[in-house]
Amino acid sequence: MNDILPGEVETWQFLESEAHRIFQLYGFAEVRVPVVEKTELFCRSIGETTDIVEKEMYTFSDRSDNSLTLRPEGTAPVMRAFIEHKLHTLDPLSRLYYMGPMFRYERPQKGRYRQFHQIGVEAIGVDDPMMDAQILAMLDHYFEAVDIRNVELHINSLGCKQCRPRYRETLTGYLESRLRSLCADCQRRYLTNPLRVLDCKVPACQEATVDAPSVLDLLCDDCDTHFRQLQAHLHKLGIVFTINARMVRGLDYYTKTTFEMVTNQLGSQNAVAAGGRYDGLIQDLGGPALPGIGFAMGVERLVLMKGDQRIAPPRPQVFLAALGDAATDEAFALMTRLQRLGLRAEMAFAGKSLKAQMRRAGKLGARFVLILGDEELASGQAQLRDMDDGSQTPIALEGIGQALAARCLAGPATGSR
Ligand code: HAM
Repeated sequence: MNDILPGEVETWQFLESEAHRIFQLYGFAEVRVPVVEKTELFCRSIGETTDIVEKEMYTFSDRSDNSLTLRPEGTAPVMRAFIEHKLHTLDPLSRLYYMGPMFRYERPQKGRYRQFHQIGVEAIGVDDPMMDAQILAMLDHYFEAVDIRNVELHINSLGCKQCRPRYRETLTGYLESRLRSLCADCQRRYLTNPLRVLDCKVPACQEATVDAPSVLDLLCDDCDTHFRQLQAHLHKLGIVFTINARMVRGLDYYTKTTFEMVTNQLGSQNAVAAGGRYDGLIQDLGGPALPGIGFAMGVERLVLMKGDQRIAPPRPQVFLAALGDAATDEAFALMTRLQRLGLRAEMAFAGKSLKAQMRRAGKLGARFVLILGDEELASGQAQLRDMDDGSQTPIALEGIGQALAARCLAGPATGSR
């Protein structure tokens, strides 16, 4: 679990504000749900035999002996809220997004943490593949907006309640014939969750399953048509993708389309965003029979991807350097006025030499420094130094707030350090 400190937090704020901006363009509204839910919600939705439910949840009893869990993901809580507030009665298409911390007791490494953050979206009510394409177009737009380019979109279809059992059976049969080559974990889960074997990172398991049957060969007509139409839409929108029939996802609620945005920049934690369709989930949780699709991005991974292109903290527009008690008092009042006018104004709070104040202004990257001493107070004129070109000009104290605001807001004063 990490602290996110100034210097890094600006990148977080940028990634979050771009999410608000882009998702709202596509008709999504923000939803905020609690970070704890009843444990049962996650068991029923994510699946009892998934790694998340079997070994990664932070689960505890409260004082009334309710079993509660810190949310390991956002889809289940958002569906719970959707059902509880009957959101489908307000609009046949609910488009929701969320951002915030999630908790999984995983082995921490680069890009994998126990408290991490997701920015996610869910669109409920439309089963047309056009909606799948719209979600992927929005994801693509987001990556472009935040200027993260080194990612590839992988898509797959996991079938539905009709055709998945057939695939599961075929795969189990195939795995049975190779059981001795599989790792201990896979020998155990080939019966409970055979699809996960395809996702196992152990090289022996990957080798033993290279020619495993493909889920795409066993889709029913409806799922097959859905997947083909999605591809046609993506082609038309110019969204590049790779079909990856071995992508199985670690949550059980998916049906039909699944996808991941992967990168080779983050070692084994290669998914920066992931999601898919979950057409039976809402009904399974006791709600109406409505289809849904969504994704979540891992914010820590996005921040890692930004690497050197991190967003710098904004520089002060004006630094007030004052000499003498009267001038310091005047500078303090003026600084507060400038802040009210919408300027990033700064001063050195402790009485320091002019040289020390100039050094501090330089360190903060201030655009202008306003120099104010007893002499300037008496003459009614301060000195304004332009820190970009080093020039210094007098500026009248009368009406200085407006004059400075005009100068700072007009020029390229909002640049980054
Ligand atoms: P997920 O694949 O479990 O899907 O997580 C989505 C993303 O969260 C991952 O691709 C990754 O970027 C990030 N992530 C997951 N675990 C960690 C971790 N321990 N540390 C850092 N980042 C992590 C879901 O959670 C689904 N709810 C997505 C979804 C929404 N499907 C439909 N709607």
